[in-house]
Amino acid sequence: MAHGAISQTSLLEALAGTDRLSELLPILHGHAVEALQARSSILFQFDRTGEWLRATSAYGLDRLPTEPWPSGGGLVPEPLFRDLLPIYIGDLTLSSKSVSEYLGTPSAVLIPLAHMDARMGVLAVGCGAEPTVEALRSVMPVGHAFALALHRANAARDTELQRDLRGLLQDFSQAVSSSLNLSTGLEALCVGVNPLFGADRTSIWLHDRRARMMRLTASSDATAFPDPREVPTADAVAPAAAALRRECAVLTPDAGTSSKALITVPLKGRRRAIGAVVMEGVRLEPGSEMELLERADEMGRQLAAAVENVVLLDDVLRSRQELDNTFNSLADLVVVCNHDGRIVHVNKTFCDRSGRPRDEIVDRPLDDLLAPGTQELLARALERPPHADGTVVRAELEDPALKGTFLMTVTPLMDEVQRPVGAVLVARDVTPHAQLEAERAELRNKLVQSEKLAALGEFVAGIAHELNNPLQGVLGHLELMRATGAFPKALRRDVQTIYREADRAAKIVRNLLVFAGSRRLVRKRVSVNAALTRVFALRAPAFRAEGIELVHDKTDNLPRLKADPLMLQQAFLNIVLNAEQAIGMNGRIEVRKALLDNPARLVVEIRDTGPGLPADVLPRVFEPFYTTKEVGKGTGLGLAIAYGIIQEHGGQISAANHPDGGAVFSVQLPIEPAGEPR
Ligand SMILES: Nc1ncnc2c1ncn2[C@@H]1O[C@H](COP(=O)(O)OP(=O)(O)OP(=O)(O)O)[C@@H](O)[C@H]1O
Ligand SMILES: [Mg+2]
Repeated sequence: MAHGAISQTSLLEALAGTDRLSELLPILHGHAVEALQARSSILFQFDRTGEWLRATSAYGLDRLPTEPWPSGGGLVPEPLFRDLLPIYIGDLTLSSKSVSEYLGTPSAVLIPLAHMDARMGVLAVGCGAEPTVEALRSVMPVGHAFALALHRANAARDTELQRDLRGLLQDFSQAVSSSLNLSTGLEALCVGVNPLFGADRTSIWLHDRRARMMRLTASSDATAFPDPREVPTADAVAPAAAALRRECAVLTPDAGTSSKALITVPLKGRRRAIGAVVMEGVRLEPGSEMELLERADEMGRQLAAAVENVVLLDDVLRSRQELDNTFNSLADLVVVCNHDGRIVHVNKTFCDRSGRPRDEIVDRPLDDLLAPGTQELLARALERPPHADGTVVRAELEDPALKGTFLMTVTPLMDEVQRPVGAVLVARDVTPHAQLEAERAELRNKLVQSEKLAALGEFVAGIAHELNNPLQGVLGHLELMRATGAFPKALRRDVQTIYREADRAAKIVRNLLVFAGSRRLVRKRVSVNAALTRVFALRAPAFRAEGIELVHDKTDNLPRLKADPLMLQQAFLNIVLNAEQAIGMNGRIEVRKALLDNPARLVVEIRDTGPGLPADVLPRVFEPFYTTKEVGKGTGLGLAIAYGIIQEHGGQISAANHPDGGAVFSVQLPIEPAGEPR
């Protein structure tokens, strides 16, 4: 026991004398070899996963093994860590041949190295013969000393690493807060990582989840970075993409040299994978891989948290910017005020309307910028008891201070616990509604027009009937006279003239009767094309004589209408006659048709190449008896009749000028008449 006691004292002396592993481990190896009267020993340490053992130092060997050993293999027999006692393996070649070769002995003592509950490694001591029980017992404190030394070294390294990382993160947050820019901060980080790991270059790739891409966001040496700067997260070979899918850091020795390596570290956030750190040209020392990876993982953990916070901040800033942009591009005036009625937030539209820059507006009492009516509305909203019904106040008001008429909405502003803290005023400028008003007025006009027409129609129908009978009598007699020739020859021309004029009068009366709608509609299934074709056939000789070209596609397959075919022809004929008269000589009449739905209706456009409708004529063309033609030429009833007919069919007719000149008359007809015709 005396021998063991001396050994323990010297062990303690050694541990107290230095905490540098490079000095301590040779002494401890010496003690182990001496205690077991052995020749060689190897210290194996578990890697971070506990699955592999790596030789990190040795005694009496030519060179340190570099290959890893599986911890499930012969180096860790089942009872080793259960009993925490050294075990003698008589024939190591059976379970771990290569270790026995390195040690130079067929048998060995395996000593478990554990600190508290943590397994740290295995010390393999190569023995020529089986050691005594006493020798085995005396080597146990050496194992403890090994474990303690390793633990102490780890703790010291940890402290140092934590200090370095703290410095790194401090620089990072400083760079971020001074620039409010994520990449600037990350670049500072990359530069700081290089000396910590002895790397040539460090880069950080961030994960764009939506695009499923990894993007190079920062690098300690971005200038020399080769493309691509983006890789799909599913990429099988790109180091950054591969790292993202892993749980811990991985080291890949550089091809051709064993002194440098590539280390990739995943950055795992609280909820998602944030990205990866890629360190290139990391300098390796024999046996330093494990420690490097541990450091890299620790760095990864700490960076991930910091980077995630900054990425979140970046997201928040970005969405805040987007929100601001949206807020400012709203066409409505929006202003937020606190409970005292002071302005907290305004959008650009409000600033523009009040004619002041934002800086001058924010923090002012909102009342300063509003007319009394709006002030009252706001006061009402601010006075409402919280949670009262109908807390939203609405009104249409003219506000001279904001220069317009607005639909105002005041909504109470609540904080996160639903306490009222102010109000939001949204003002929609309804001044352009004047425009809508004008449209309504026009509609009213049209209504008046049809009412006028109806009244006039009744009146005209009465007269027309009265006139028609005597006229028919006159015409009948004249016809008879012409047929029999029962009048002096000298009167022939006069009779001719009387007949022509009477006939014209009869035509006018007929027109008047049509206009007055005294003829009942006889609805049939008719094709618009057939009606148009008839009209054009009627006018074809005149067109030829006047050099008028007709553009009319009859092949379109349009549905048939429920309409009075003769009336429809009459309406189109009146439009076509006007077009013809407007053109005079040489021109073109174009017909276009279209089918619209909701409700299903046909549109027929008839365009001519005449002089078009002057501004003073356009609004009056459908007025009965309105004509610009010389006396005796036009009655001014053609379009009034067309208007009446189309209206009776439940359709609409309108007149306009074509941008390229000429008039366009547009007729809309429902496919099915709605309800009964008047
Ligand atoms: N295609 C057109 N181009 C230019 N002016 C037109 C055209 N169609 C109608 N007008 C104008 O509208 C007026 C009214 O037309 P409307 O058909 O009602 O009467 P009118 O042609 O003058 O007489 P009526 O048709 O009874 O013989 C015309 O006098 C003319 O000034
Ligand atoms: Mg006419």
